Amino acid sequence: GTTLGQSAAEKGRYFGAAVANHRLGESNYVTTLNREFNSVTAENEMKWDATEPSRGNFQFGNADRIVNHARGQGKMVRGHTLVWHSQLPGWVQGLDTNNLRSAMNNHINQLAGRYRGQIHSWDVVNEAFEDGGSGARRNSVFQQRLGNGWIEEAFRTARQADPNAKLCYNDYNTDDWSHAKTQAVYNMVRDFKNRGVPIDCVGLQSHFNNQSPVPGNYQTTLQSFANLGVDVQITELDIAGSGQQQAESYRTVTRACLNVSRCTGITVWGIPDHYSWRADQTPLLFDRNYNKKPAYNAVLEELNR
Ligand code: G3I
Repeated sequence: GTTLGQSAAEKGRYFGAAVANHRLGESNYVTTLNREFNSVTAENEMKWDATEPSRGNFQFGNADRIVNHARGQGKMVRGHTLVWHSQLPGWVQGLDTNNLRSAMNNHINQLAGRYRGQIHSWDVVNEAFEDGGSGARRNSVFQQRLGNGWIEEAFRTARQADPNAKLCYNDYNTDDWSHAKTQAVYNMVRDFKNRGVPIDCVGLQSHFNNQSPVPGNYQTTLQSFANLGVDVQITELDIAGSGQQQAESYRTVTRACLNVSRCTGITVWGIPDHYSWRADQTPLLFDRNYNKKPAYNAVLEELNR
């Protein structure tokens, strides 16, 4: 193949990008998106603060524009994200247990229901575990008010709302197999599979930089999750750096995914460097003029190997 999406498709996978609605009027951005990627994730537009700013008041305009653009171009859509402690509107924080439970389930039903049949995979729950060595659940409002059962409740609700979407648990710093957080997520997924909680995939965000580079055991992590009977997806890939060094890290990640049959796709977290959430680290595949970087060439070459 001559593009990322086409080359990934030839390997039975997708290659996606996070997209911001407010860039869709920019011709270089849209040309690159349309040409290179066959899956799209809304970078912010499907989050709770964007879609339900006050209780029961759902706003889908920006998310719809991204979905319509993607589908108009024959691209698949990843859903990000149904339940997350961040970008959570203030009104949710103030709810008591019963109201929080019904608000969470209603939010999932409304979002997954609106896009039912149009989303290949949903990040049902995002970032529910603590950083550091404890392996504990993050002390979010969901954990505090609903207790340990909230994650599986979210997955059960999502399954009913869109039975054909793959349901993913998504997190960061879960790339290194020896990391306590990785093991905590692994144990949760194993438990869900053992008890029949509907989970289909694990998303590894894969935000890498000098402090947390691509771990040497990254492929082991992908394969270990896959061995539980779930797909793995690389959901928010970006790697700080430049030149050949950055290219080799991108190559390593791409190869690891291709080496794991249940690694079904890769999404990069933006298109040109200067629109990245960490633009100063130039972590993406295109420079600010939409030129292909060495990292792009390495990924394309690996996809076509
Ligand atoms: O929408 C407002 C806009 O009205 C306002 O004028 C502007 C002024 O700064 O801010 C806009 O909101 C920003 C939003 O992005 C949309 O551009 C927020 O300030 C900004 O904090 C927000 O950042 C996003 C971040 O998530 C929030 O946590 C990034 O774009 C987005 O890339 C990032 O993505 C997350 C994933 O969802 C989950 N994993 C980590 C990843 C990186 O942090």
